[in-house]
Amino acid sequence: MQETDRRKFLGFAIGGVLVAAAGAITYPLYKYLAPRKREDARQKVVVAETDVPVGGAKFFELEGRTAVLVRKSGGALIALSAVCTHLGCVVQWQQDKEQFLCPCHGGQFTADGTVIAGPPPRPLEIIPFTVSNGSITVG
Ligand code: FES
Repeated sequence: MQETDRRKFLGFAIGGVLVAAAGAITYPLYKYLAPRKREDARQKVVVAETDVPVGGAKFFELEGRTAVLVRKSGGALIALSAVCTHLGCVVQWQQDKEQFLCPCHGGQFTADGTVIAGPPPRPLEIIPFTVSNGSITVG
């Protein structure tokens, strides 16, 4: 009888430690990969044109979500949501390929946001912007 109680206790204790360890690993990973919350809910963002070099990307927060400006090798600008349309991870810019890669499940998008590989069901959302006097106003 005592042996059974000891085994039950050890089972619960080990299970509790495993659950705590799993939470300690997955929560920081989730916080790193998940889009930011609406702490910085600006409706418009102004970026200097010089901050977006040819082939480069500039990430920023817009209305509480991560967005990105890209200047393609031809010089054209595009503003997109940087939130993957699969499960919401923030995509990364791969300057050498001029593509976006989603680190969560390998989704790939062109610089225009079109899906070219992986599970994302839709392209990245296009965000309107204007350019005036060396400044890009997004949103
Ligand atoms: S969340 Fe981007 S591919 Fe799954």
